[in-house]
Amino acid sequence: NDTALIDRFGRQIHYLRLSVTDRCDFRCVYCMSEQMQFLPREQVLSLEEMLALAQAFTELGVRKIRLTGGEPLVRRNVLWLIERLGELPVELVLTTNGSQLQRFAQPLRQAGVSRLNISLDSLDPERFRNLTRNGRLDQVLAGIDAACDAGFTRIKLNTVVLHGRNEDEVPALVEYVRSRGLDISFIEEMPLGRISEHDRSEAFCSSDSLQARLAEHYTLIPTAERTGGPSRYFRMPDSDSRIGFISPHSHNFCGDCNRVRVTAEGRLLLCLGNEHSVDLRALLRQPGCDAEQLRQAIVDAMQIKPERHHFTLDEEPQILRFMNMTGG
Ligand code: GTP
Ligand code: 5AD
Ligand code: SF4
Repeated sequence: NDTALIDRFGRQIHYLRLSVTDRCDFRCVYCMSEQMQFLPREQVLSLEEMLALAQAFTELGVRKIRLTGGEPLVRRNVLWLIERLGELPVELVLTTNGSQLQRFAQPLRQAGVSRLNISLDSLDPERFRNLTRNGRLDQVLAGIDAACDAGFTRIKLNTVVLHGRNEDEVPALVEYVRSRGLDISFIEEMPLGRISEHDRSEAFCSSDSLQARLAEHYTLIPTAERTGGPSRYFRMPDSDSRIGFISPHSHNFCGDCNRVRVTAEGRLLLCLGNEHSVDLRALLRQPGCDAEQLRQAIVDAMQIKPERHHFTLDEEPQILRFMNMTGG
């Protein structure tokens, strides 16, 4: 037991997901509404404040920090932060939409980022443009190539699978990862924020249905391999790739939750699917706040970590915060 961060259910927190910006150059249909307004700058933590938080969490026992957004690589000077985080005794990883990777892959590797998760919902340029509301597929594919060239291994793609929009591309995405030795997670969409133009219950696609469909073409062997996140991985006998499923609706994974989040505004969010949180920004900006106070506030916050989410797709979303505030 090497962490000071333990909740009321005995879960040990080793993993911090740090959102470095709510901004993104894409507006994926399941993540944001079309009219999304981003936060004014003064409400967002400075890079120095983020570094102070990461240090505090590391001192308390966090062993893995995942940088998220929005899109983390659109934050100005983000490499300054990443280089400093690379010096902390943690596994440093990053989730990105891939649009900036041609420029960033090499410097990220040099700064000590050990793994990348890259979102990719379609291999068809026109569809990709619709799903991201104007993203360019060629940029992302070139970004994935740049990440491979920079020497990243165990790159994982994330695909949010939507019935009637990209469900039919699942086999093609599996072929794509197999040809490059990448991993992939297929994700059940979660209801965060109200998006009037998108019907989540209509788009729902269960992991079990995908798995059954893939099992017609591939031998899927369950593995106990985990990466510290919620994905359940399968291997195939003739490939190095792993196929994962993230199934918040059909296979709840809250029982072994090991993580908390900090939003771009410095809110320590104890669970993705609840609003229980502590305002660390207020504390950081209080004159005379010292590192010990900060650590104590984080330790105390574990007492309000909820047991689980209660996502449902057939009612209005209970959580009005959009995914870009927390990066998933
Ligand atoms: P690794 O296991 O480190 O590869 O990361 P990950 O798959 O947990 O992280 P990633 O940022 O790639 O997120 C993939 C999906 O998992 C996103 O849709 C996240 O919202 C979802 N996810 C990650 N952690 C949680 C969690 O604690 N609860 C829920 N409900 N979803 C999560
Ligand atoms: N439900 C599930 N996953 C989502 N993501 C963004 N919004 C949602 C949602 N509502 C995914 C992104 C990215 C990951 C961090 O979270 O596609 O791959
Ligand atoms: Fe943990 Fe909440 Fe995610 Fe469940 S929904 S795994 S409790 S953060």
